[in-house]
Amino acid sequence: MRRDAAKSAPTLIQLTAESADDAALDEIDAVASAAFDVPQFSAREELRRPWTRCWVAREERRAFAFLIAWHVADELHVLNVATCPTARRRGLATALMRRSLEYAQEQRVRLVLLEVRRSNRAAIRLYRKLGFTAMGVRPRYYSDNGEDAVEMVLTFDPATGAVQPGRDEIRIEV
Ligand SMILES: CC(C)(COP(=O)(O)OP(=O)(O)OC[C@H]1O[C@@H](n2cnc3c(N)ncnc32)[C@H](O)[C@@H]1OP(=O)(O)O)[C@@H](O)C(=O)NCCC(=O)NCCS
Repeated sequence: MRRDAAKSAPTLIQLTAESADDAALDEIDAVASAAFDVPQFSAREELRRPWTRCWVAREERRAFAFLIAWHVADELHVLNVATCPTARRRGLATALMRRSLEYAQEQRVRLVLLEVRRSNRAAIRLYRKLGFTAMGVRPRYYSDNGEDAVEMVLTFDPATGAVQPGRDEIRIEV
């Protein structure tokens, strides 16, 4: 399916196992296959897990980007965020990340965590802009090419819910 860049402001929608029909699930898988070289996951399987949270950015009834996270206890783990190549650098991933952070604040989440390939400068810049810091490295985390993962974290102040400023614990090039 061809996916042209979105032409106006996107609508952000949270999908659940109940609300996501086959077409919506296929759209997420299509964005994932357009965005990643390596197959990542099946949206159907992911949404069956009670702890999965998923948002899509839609324009003219088509999905151009999605974010999938796991909410477990007081942590939100962002597993994947991706934008169709034709719709990049238009703020879709930022909008989805911000929506997930709003959700985290509403749910009184303490930590938002994610892993990112050390070479993925675009994603690392995106996360940094939102306040994430690098807290560690998981050596050879990715089995397809043995690349290291950088672990990034964003912490909320438990009293106020505000993002707590943090510092990188490791040095990464971006
Ligand atoms: C990373 C990704 C999700 C960004 O999506 P996007 O919708 O284009 O992101 P945004 O438009 O919201 O960009 C936000 C910021 O990220 C950074 N960024 C995004 N793409 C970038 C690029 N190609 N080079 C450098 N910085 C980039 C910039 O700081 C950008 O802000 P700016 O446009 O004001 O400079 C997208 O490139 C993608 O789908 N990549 C493949 C999948 C992937 O690697 N996902 C992350 C897995 S951890």
